[in-house]
Amino acid sequence: MNTISTAELRVHGLAHAFARDEVLSGIHFRVRAGEVVALVGPSGCGKTTLLHLAAGLLTVQEGKVDNGFASTAFMFQQPRLLPWKTALDNVALGLKAAGIQRAERHFRARALALRLGLAHRDLDKFPHQLSGGMQSRVALARALVLAPELLLLDEPFSALDVGLKEELYRLLLDHQAERGMGVLMITHDLMEAVRLSDAILVMAPEPGRIVCRFELDRPASRRDDAWVYRHTAELLQTPDVRTSFGLPPVVEPERATRAQGQEAVRQQGVRQEGAAQDGAGQEGAAGAGRAQPLSGLRLVSPATGLIAVQGGKRCGA
Ligand SMILES: Nc1ncnc2c1ncn2[C@@H]1O[C@H](COP(=O)(O)OP(=O)(O)OP(=O)(O)O)[C@@H](O)[C@H]1O
Ligand SMILES: [Mg+2]
Repeated sequence: MNTISTAELRVHGLAHAFARDEVLSGIHFRVRAGEVVALVGPSGCGKTTLLHLAAGLLTVQEGKVDNGFASTAFMFQQPRLLPWKTALDNVALGLKAAGIQRAERHFRARALALRLGLAHRDLDKFPHQLSGGMQSRVALARALVLAPELLLLDEPFSALDVGLKEELYRLLLDHQAERGMGVLMITHDLMEAVRLSDAILVMAPEPGRIVCRFELDRPASRRDDAWVYRHTAELLQTPDVRTSFGLPPVVEPERATRAQGQEAVRQQGVRQEGAAQDGAGQEGAAGAGRAQPLSGLRLVSPATGLIAVQGGKRCGA
């Protein structure tokens, strides 16, 4: 029977610079046991640096990282497999370091690698003989096989095709539910964040900082595609997310319609002018003011299942 753990990872007032480049500033958050937290933000905003600090792979310069979990496993953004070891031995690496006997570690590593969609024949291959997606599954297996209390993942699914992603999402959620792991996961994919996480931290760049936290109130196991699409769309509409990713503000449909109408009238005028010069003015009046619906993003109703909190206040709604 699972006992409920009260362990948590607490990050407080974290700041970091590489030489004179301030990369992170004023980072506060926590990850509790049994919780999946996604970290999203534009490329170069400091997500990997933050994860490395959380994992103790970089020395903390300012602020505090308090990891109360008994064991932590890390999956790097690049698979970082040992080139002289087979896929199976790469998966089993941490088990070897933990002193587990060869037969037992191979048994566990093989079972997990097969669950992650690798074939028996792949397990005897060396990293250079594996595709990018296979390498990232080996790297994920290497972290999961340790059954850690805290799992830190840096874009674990980015090299995988859509079918495999779905399968691995389920597997990660099963592992997480079975063991009550805490998971902190970087992703570029907002839909992935909405599908998997209990909370989403949105980072903005220069310096990297958390501008918004979203909490998703429906358990991941009960989210269907429609729920995920709707809430991803909501997330994409929020001003903080758009600003962070350098997207232009959402244009409200009525305003867009009016603007399009005005543009249509303006173009009409130009066409009519041209037509008058050509001596043929039939084309034109029919299109004036008849705006087409905007293509691309659609404005959806304010968040309901999605609760946004910023410094204790709602944001992004
Ligand atoms: N070891 C390092 N030395 C100097 N600068 C670094 C180092 N590691 C990262 N940086 C810089 O810190 C900034 C943040 O890098 P980081 O890898 O954390 O970004 P990221 O958000 O993970 O980006 P991506 O989404 O592209 O992976 C970048 O400007 C990067 O050049
Ligand atoms: Mg990164």
